[in-house]
Amino acid sequence: MRIVLGIESSCDETAAALVTDGRVIVAQRIASQDEAHRPYGGVVPEIAARAHAEILTPLIEATLADAGMTLADVDAVAATAGPGLIGGVMVGLVTAKALAMAADKPLIAINHLEGHALSPRLADETLEFPYLLLLASGGHCQLLLVEGVGRFRRLATTIDDALGEAFDKTAKILGLGYPGGPAVERLAGEGDVRKVPLPRPLLGSAEPHFSFAGLKSAVLRAKQAGVHADADIAASFQQAAVDCVIDRSKRAIQAAGPVTALVVAGGVAANKSIRAALEALAADNSLRFVAPPLQLCTDNAAMIAWAGVERLGQDDPFDFAPRPRWPLDA
Ligand code: KG4
Ligand code: ZN
Repeated sequence: MRIVLGIESSCDETAAALVTDGRVIVAQRIASQDEAHRPYGGVVPEIAARAHAEILTPLIEATLADAGMTLADVDAVAATAGPGLIGGVMVGLVTAKALAMAADKPLIAINHLEGHALSPRLADETLEFPYLLLLASGGHCQLLLVEGVGRFRRLATTIDDALGEAFDKTAKILGLGYPGGPAVERLAGEGDVRKVPLPRPLLGSAEPHFSFAGLKSAVLRAKQAGVHADADIAASFQQAAVDCVIDRSKRAIQAAGPVTALVVAGGVAANKSIRAALEALAADNSLRFVAPPLQLCTDNAAMIAWAGVERLGQDDPFDFAPRPRWPLDA
């Protein structure tokens, strides 16, 4: 059995996990900084970096203690090296380098997006390459053909906002606070999806990409009009988002060629309406649908440790530079 320590600090969760090559999450801890950022309605990079620096080392020690292990027991140290907020990424990567150097273990620099993209394989040992992945989070909205570890073909990306960002901005407009996705989903459950006419940007377009900026602006106008119930705005927004996601995913299924499954990952995969619609789309196309458990969908370190397991044998140099931008198919 081999075991990897994973570290995640690219946004507003500080996380550490120990994952085996047998797909067992031996221990994991996540410290959310939601409370620290809530007054600002979004993640403040400077506050995030400072919090990561304060929390990360004790969090790693606690994770090892939970497992009854020391660094000597791990086979590699894997950390998110980008993309993300540079301050947080630096804290995680520097800590990983120090631990790997001190314990004489290989360092594995992980692309955060690859962590999300491979996480479904941690949850489901039968998931084989190639699969079509919708990766939808606060910073990203992409359709990727995942052909193997480190082998991705980007079929679509957003030309403006990410889907999670659209949820977060809608939450802000409706005064629901931060983080927005779960709050919008909750309120949408009490509203009518047909009450507020909202645009579906790029629906039916031959262009493969996503766009959510126009939808967000329309939500703002609907709110400012003052005639709609917030729950109806939330429900109508969520339905428009679902319609866009399904239309774009349909196109990607056609463009991808043969795949083993339609897979969803990233924080937005927690959304039940989006999951259900994707599941139906997969069934219509005789594809398996795979969605990791919710705690693997939002940012976590188990997915980083798992990507490290998939990359065991790699040993990155200690001068590996953090990459605030790091496209998956580059
Ligand atoms: O993957 P993630 O934890 O962090 C990033 O790498 O961005 O994704 C967080 C994003 C946020 O925009 C959040 O609002 C969204 O995922 N999200 C949701 C839901 N839960 C989280 N969006 C819609 N519905 C949800 N239930
Ligand atoms: Zn993420």
